[in-house]
Amino acid sequence: MTLLVTGGAGFIGSNFVLDWLAAPETRGEPVVDLDALTYAGNLANLASLQGDARHVFVQGEIGDRALVDRLLATHRPRAIVHFAAESHVDRSIHGPGAFIETNVEGTFTLLEAARAYWAKLEGDAKSAFRFLHVSTDEVYGSLAPGAPAFTEDHPYEPNSPYAASKAASDHLVRAWHHTYGLPVVTTNCSNNYGPYQFPEKLIPLMIVNALAGKPLPVYGDGMQVRDWLYVGDHCAAIRTVLARGRLGETYNIGGWNEKPNREIVQTLCALLDELRPDPAGPYARLVRSVADRPGHDRRYAIDARKIERELGWRPAETFASGIRKTVRWYLDHTDWTAQVQSGAYRDWVATNYAAR
Ligand code: NAD
Ligand code: TYD
Repeated sequence: MTLLVTGGAGFIGSNFVLDWLAAPETRGEPVVDLDALTYAGNLANLASLQGDARHVFVQGEIGDRALVDRLLATHRPRAIVHFAAESHVDRSIHGPGAFIETNVEGTFTLLEAARAYWAKLEGDAKSAFRFLHVSTDEVYGSLAPGAPAFTEDHPYEPNSPYAASKAASDHLVRAWHHTYGLPVVTTNCSNNYGPYQFPEKLIPLMIVNALAGKPLPVYGDGMQVRDWLYVGDHCAAIRTVLARGRLGETYNIGGWNEKPNREIVQTLCALLDELRPDPAGPYARLVRSVADRPGHDRRYAIDARKIERELGWRPAETFASGIRKTVRWYLDHTDWTAQVQSGAYRDWVATNYAAR
């Protein structure tokens, strides 16, 4: 028994691999980890697995059909858990091409390889096989204030190139089930936060900027609302859906925790004031309003009742407990943040923030 994980050196993928190999219910089932190591992939996330025979890391593209075929033939996985993607909305605005390439064409190639592999399986191996596609709530578009949260039946209305590319990949996965019978299940999750998140996303960006005494750039009026989920809870939800999710279904995953960006930034400043006070004054002095993101979605909210009702999953962390753990992690891992803030990272910061 083996899992093929794609994107297992990224933020959520690496948390998933570490949790998978540690979770009692998975009994140490090995993982083959296919990751292209783009700017967002980092082997340092998996350093604690060095020398662990249960983790086989392969650097490569999900769009490399020959490589994926070879990995499937060699390792005979019982499931594919597909995280690999370009994942940052702002980058998709500056350069959408990579999002089409990886999220749409890459997912297509992976589905085709999975279909060919699955077609040749027999008996229990065939009926047990799963393709779990990890997606986002951003495919549903933006909610008006007070509108009901996204259910699995909400129409797809993606607004950013990132969201459109993930929506396209969700549709491909759905079609491969309906047309070819591929045993798929899709998860649509809200905004994650936690250890190993690349400091281009809101929460780690605010932490690393605050610690460096740099401005904390809040887009527009900062009243855009997201639902926030601790990454360990997302990983537990994925393990649950992999074990018991119904074929062809989608499951929304969320934290029951809607908050406007300004409140997130204020919470981070207050935690840093407590845990690492700055002699120069409260961190909130660094908050700046900057030009808004084009097409910025106003509100996401997840109705996560289906996964709770059918599969019994609910988040274990509250926002208060998860965000405190996260801030502590970044304070204890300044070597990690220093390492990922390479020249390429500085180029990105200049591209995204210089003109705001
Ligand atoms: P990430 O950007 O941190 O990591 C993506 C990983 O995929 C990186 O390790 C990267 O090297 C790898 N990758 C990129 N292109 C590849 C390719 N062509 N072939 C192989 N590997 C490739 O992303 P993340 O935040 O960990 O998100 C993982 C998945 O979860 C994505 O599919 C994303 O859409 C989804 N998701 C993310 C969030 C969130 O809040 N971060 C929320 C819901 C869903
Ligand atoms: P982000 O972490 O990029 O996730 P997503 O766009 O996928 O929700 O952004 C979360 C929210 O924070 C989003 O409304 C945009 C906002 N934001 C800022 O205000 N400033 C920033 O520098 C960044 C990166 C995001």
